[in-house]
Amino acid sequence: MYPELQKELETFERRTPKSAEAHKRNLKRLPLGVASNYRAYDPYPIFVKEGQGSHFRDLDGNDYLDHNLCFGALMAGHCHPAVMKAVEKRLSTGTMFGMPHDMEWQLAEEICKRFPVEMVRFGSSGTEATMHAVRLARAATGRDKIVKFEGGYHGLHDSALVSVKPHAPDFGDIKNPVSVPGGLGVPKSAIANVAIATFNDLGTVERRFQENPGQIAAIILEPILMNVGLCMPQPGFLEGLREIATKNGSLLIFDEVKTGAKLGWGGASEYYGVIPDMICLAKSIGGGFPLAAFGAHKSVMDLISQHKVFHGGTYNTNPVSMAAGLATFSDVLTRENYAHVEKLSKKLVDGYKKIIAKVGLQGYIAQAGANGALMLYPQEIQNYRDWLAIDVDLWRHYWFGMVNRGVMPQPYWQDEQWTMSVQHTEADIDKHIAAFDDIAASLGKAQQERAGKAPALAAH
Ligand SMILES: Cc1ncc(COP(=O)(O)O)c(C=O)c1O
Repeated sequence: MYPELQKELETFERRTPKSAEAHKRNLKRLPLGVASNYRAYDPYPIFVKEGQGSHFRDLDGNDYLDHNLCFGALMAGHCHPAVMKAVEKRLSTGTMFGMPHDMEWQLAEEICKRFPVEMVRFGSSGTEATMHAVRLARAATGRDKIVKFEGGYHGLHDSALVSVKPHAPDFGDIKNPVSVPGGLGVPKSAIANVAIATFNDLGTVERRFQENPGQIAAIILEPILMNVGLCMPQPGFLEGLREIATKNGSLLIFDEVKTGAKLGWGGASEYYGVIPDMICLAKSIGGGFPLAAFGAHKSVMDLISQHKVFHGGTYNTNPVSMAAGLATFSDVLTRENYAHVEKLSKKLVDGYKKIIAKVGLQGYIAQAGANGALMLYPQEIQNYRDWLAIDVDLWRHYWFGMVNRGVMPQPYWQDEQWTMSVQHTEADIDKHIAAFDDIAASLGKAQQERAGKAPALAAH
């Protein structure tokens, strides 16, 4: 480990002794000391105490500007007043009934207004949404296989846990990627039904269809690959997928668990002008409560109406989550708030770009809607394998450096991205930029030394 990173880690440990202690305690009873593998990192994760608006505090009382926002699930920010008010009202009138109620059609109407679907069903997590969407697509086509992109994340069910973070040599050639299980316990039969393609490479998708004629039920993807920082679809890629799916009688599933609420008012289909057959929503549509949905046109969803596809769930449309969801759509995910977030994002991006140029850091900023990321690459990445080239220590230097300066710039892990909430302010962005300005020179220096070069002259 190089000295600047070592120094940031020492500062981190000095600032967060209570998190270290709490993690040690957790380790005895929870694998990795956490409730989701994504929350574990070295030397130990920050343990949170409370949050409000765009900030949270850890157990040691350190305050952080929050761009993690629960892995992007909180475009509302913490405790959004409209969401809190709606939820508080529901808390004293019954939290679970397992019976239909009148918030269901209201939220379904709202979703059908914004997204290109005619009917929806609800659930509690993104995993559920993509799992049911894939099953419906299989039922609608009478086919078992799906095409998924290498590096894409769609949750934790068997069809999704394939080639999420595969490594060489297992993953094969980039033009012919191999389906690699995302851990033990994923059955071979599940792997056999997931054909892998390379993001931004339509040729690999065509190849999968040629190899599996009449067998592919759906193509599933995040319209922006967000499991590798932020990897943009290149012009024509989404349109090409639409064409391939239609030509082959397969369904195109947009996993909009992240993009649905955060790209803009109408999600990725509005943003890119490409219409999928099915969408999956979760995370930020719940305003801080577990809420998910999947939808399609009536002909597909009618498979549920006809009792041909089974869908259920004890927690589906529980009144607390639904009240939160309705308030989120009416008061958080508004055109005015998207404009606010866009304005702040532009300010943040401009700030990063100026500093990157000033210190001669090799990297770029990717941004779309409420999401963005510092991408430590010489040029724009196109797919998962490009992303693998990241200098992980340099990225850790950035993350811990920012965190030590009171800014959590994104969730931990170099495959994530920042979220801007509707509660962030201009002052928050000034703080974020100032923190980056403070750390950037040492990042640039470390990068140049690691590349074995003499420090480059500043660009400005
Ligand atoms: C694109 C995408 N799909 C699905 C999921 C799974 O959602 P959940 O964690 O709510 O099950 C995630 C979670 O990060 C995601 O980013």
